[in-house]
Amino acid sequence: MKGLILSGGKGTRLYPLTYTSAKQLIPIANRPVLVRVIEAIRDAGITDIGIVVGDTAPEIERAVKQGSQWGVNVSYIHQDAPLGLAHAVKISQDFLGNDRFVMFLGDNVIQGGISPLIGEFADSVYNAQVVLTKVDQPQQYGVAELDSDNRIVKLVEKPKEPPSNLALVGIYMFDHHIFEAVNAISPSWRGELEITDAIQWLVDHHYQVHPYIHQGWWIDTGRPGDMLEANSLALEELTPIIEGYVDRESEVDSRVTIERGAEIINSVVRGPAIIGQDTRLVNAYVGPFTSIYHHCVIENAEISRSIVLEHSEIRNVSHRIEDSLIGRHVVVHRSPIRPRAHKFTLGDHSHLGLLGESGT
Ligand code: TTP
Repeated sequence: MKGLILSGGKGTRLYPLTYTSAKQLIPIANRPVLVRVIEAIRDAGITDIGIVVGDTAPEIERAVKQGSQWGVNVSYIHQDAPLGLAHAVKISQDFLGNDRFVMFLGDNVIQGGISPLIGEFADSVYNAQVVLTKVDQPQQYGVAELDSDNRIVKLVEKPKEPPSNLALVGIYMFDHHIFEAVNAISPSWRGELEITDAIQWLVDHHYQVHPYIHQGWWIDTGRPGDMLEANSLALEELTPIIEGYVDRESEVDSRVTIERGAEIINSVVRGPAIIGQDTRLVNAYVGPFTSIYHHCVIENAEISRSIVLEHSEIRNVSHRIEDSLIGRHVVVHRSPIRPRAHKFTLGDHSHLGLLGESGT
């Protein structure tokens, strides 16, 4: 089998973080989502992987290269514009040939890997397998309707009246018949070749589309809130290890990972949390569900349930920072210059939540 990872797209819902960089490279518990996807595919025994890339191709290629770091062999497939998931399959036909393959959205995180589902599909007679999971608000997802024999009858995108609570997870398995489907369908109202339409075409033409119900958690990291949620869940599963330096004045919980070269000086870290390589905490508090990436400084400041990307600095901030996603090379500090006022340099589409006068 081969693997196909979709890492094109625009990532508009994660602006401004994804204006200039790929959302698939945002780290969850200090490991980029795309790296988690590559490792999940590799752990299922697949080493031949194609990555569909768009505008952010240079950044993705720089980070992943040929994949040898993870023991896989990566080919890049360039998509001129994000014309839909089925379009991504269409342009990957040369790479995929007649092999069965797993397609994984490069911004999805799934608990427990994909070995069980690959195992079920690899030697089966199914032409396709879709992964479904129970969700609370099926109106927001692609939803599957199953018949009494557990066969897929219909797939509907964001239904007003959902036929079930089984949403499509961003992992699909196909054999070469999917190319007939992607060549037969037309773009949807939003101008994209939809993978749900292609799968519906397979169902309508009596190909065997098998539903696999996933039991653990799964997160599509499209929006900042999803990133923080995925970060919390991944931190819960991390096996803690202290490789950096913790001074005697500091207090570090048992569920905390301190990466190589990190320094914790007179600070408190409550787990689950991770402090990245060569990051310095000085007189700081880092609360649960926080990931600070590499080469950051948190000094005289408090932060919890947040993600801070590489080379950022937070110094001398009197109020605790919470539920925040902070980009690369960001500087947050108290300004010593009068007048006493908030001074910002914010990118387009930034979100800033300020405390009121009373501090509430
Ligand atoms: P989406 O989240 O559907 O789209 P997006 O990344 O453009 O995000 P937004 O809605 O915030 O603008 O994409 C799911 C994954 O598939 C993501 O990793 C990008 C990738 N993708 C492609 O590679 N090609 C495509 O044509 C599309 C639509 C998505």
